[in-house]
Amino acid sequence: MPEQTHISKLTLTNFRNYAGLSLELGPGAVVLSGDNGAGKTNLLEAISLLTPGRGLRRAPYADVAREGGDGGFALHARIEGPEGQVEIGTGIAGGDGAGEGGRRVRINGAPAKSAEDMLEWLRVVWLTPAMDGLFPGPAADRRRFLDRLVLAIDPSHGQRALDYEKAMRGRNRLLTEGSRDSDWFDAIETQMAETGVAIAAARAELVRLLAAMIDKLPGSGPFPQADISLSGELESEIAVAPAVDVEEWFRAALANGRERDRAAGRTLDGPHRSDLVVRHRPKSMPAELCSTGEQKALLVGIVLSHARLTGEMSGLTPILLLDEIAAHLDSGRRAALFSILEELNCQAFMTGTDAALFSSLAGRAQFLTVDHGSVGPTG
Ligand SMILES: Nc1ncnc2c1ncn2[C@@H]1O[C@H](COP(=O)(O)OP(=O)(O)O)[C@@H](O)[C@H]1O
Ligand SMILES: [Mg+2]
Repeated sequence: MPEQTHISKLTLTNFRNYAGLSLELGPGAVVLSGDNGAGKTNLLEAISLLTPGRGLRRAPYADVAREGGDGGFALHARIEGPEGQVEIGTGIAGGDGAGEGGRRVRINGAPAKSAEDMLEWLRVVWLTPAMDGLFPGPAADRRRFLDRLVLAIDPSHGQRALDYEKAMRGRNRLLTEGSRDSDWFDAIETQMAETGVAIAAARAELVRLLAAMIDKLPGSGPFPQADISLSGELESEIAVAPAVDVEEWFRAALANGRERDRAAGRTLDGPHRSDLVVRHRPKSMPAELCSTGEQKALLVGIVLSHARLTGEMSGLTPILLLDEIAAHLDSGRRAALFSILEELNCQAFMTGTDAALFSSLAGRAQFLTVDHGSVGPTG
C-alpha cells in the first residue's frame, strides 16, 4: 500500500448545522460519536464534497448551505499526501446571487478547471445507511454506485458519463419532438456510441480488477466474497468483441431503434440501462435475497476491496467515510473491520451514536464527540 493520504485540517463555514468549525485531524481512524442529529453525517458529507459530484447525500447545494446563513457555504481541507501538502477549498458563493455559477473548487488557492482536478490529490469512498437498500433497490442506484467505483480508479469516467448523458438528452429531445432529421440523429448516435462504449469498457475493467481484489478476501472471513458482474448488452458485447466493433454495433442498434424509441419517447438501449449484479459467493445466492446483515457484510467487503484497489491503482490511499458502520456489525466483525482498515493504511472516518462500539480502537484512533455543530475530543 502507498503512503497514506489524509486530511490534516478541515474547516467548515455555513455548512449544514456548522456555522464555523475547524478540526485538526490525525492519520488513521477517526471515530465521531454523538446523538442523533448532532451533525456526524453532515461532517462526512462535507468530506465527500472533496471529490467530484454532489456528495454522499446528493443534495442540492441550497440544502447544504446553513439555514440562517447567507446562502453560501465553504469547505477547506489541508491534505497530506505522497506529493506533500495541498490545500483544497470548495463551496458556493453566498449573499446576492447565492449559489450562482455552481460549486467552485480551488487548489492551493488557484481556481481549478473542474471538480475532477481534486482527484489528482485525493480519493474519497463512502458507505452510508442509505446504501443498505442497494441490492434490492433500483438499478439506477447500483449504476451510480458502480460509476463512483470506476471514478475512483479512472478520473476521466465522470466526463465520459456527462458527455454520454448530454448526447442522449439531445437524442431524446429529437425523439419527443418527432424529428426525422437523420443527419442530426446520425451525429448524435455516433457520439453516444463512442462515449457509451467507453463507459461500458471502463465499467468492465473496474469489475475485472475489483473481482480480482475481492478474491483476496479470506474465503471464510467476516466479510463474504461477492461475485460481481455486469448486465447490459454493451457490457456483454465488450467482453467478447473489440471496442471498435461494439461501437459500430451500438451505433447501428441506435439507428435501427429510432421508431421504437420514438414510441417510447426515450432511448431504450445503452449503458444508462446496465446493472451491477452481485451474488453472495459462500451462500451462492443473489445479494438482494440475503439478510440485511449479510448484505451489509457483502457491501463492506466490496468497499474495502475497492479501497485497496484504489490505493494500488492511483497511489493515493482513499479516505473512507463509514457512516453508522457499527450498527449492523457484531463485535467480531467490528474488530475485523478495524484491523483491515489499519492494514489498508487509510484515514477512515467512522460514526456512531455510541463511542463504546469503538472501544477496541482505544489508543489507535482519534475519538471526537459531535454536539450540535461543534466537535471536540471525546471523554
Ligand atoms: N442546511 C442546514 N442548516 C442547518 N442545519 C441543518 C441543515 N441541514 C441539516 N441540518 C441539521 O443537521 C442535523 C442533522 O445532522 P446529521 O449530520 O444528519 O446528524 P447525525 O449526527 O445524526 O448524523 C439536523 O438537526 C438538521 O436539522
Ligand atoms: Mg447520521
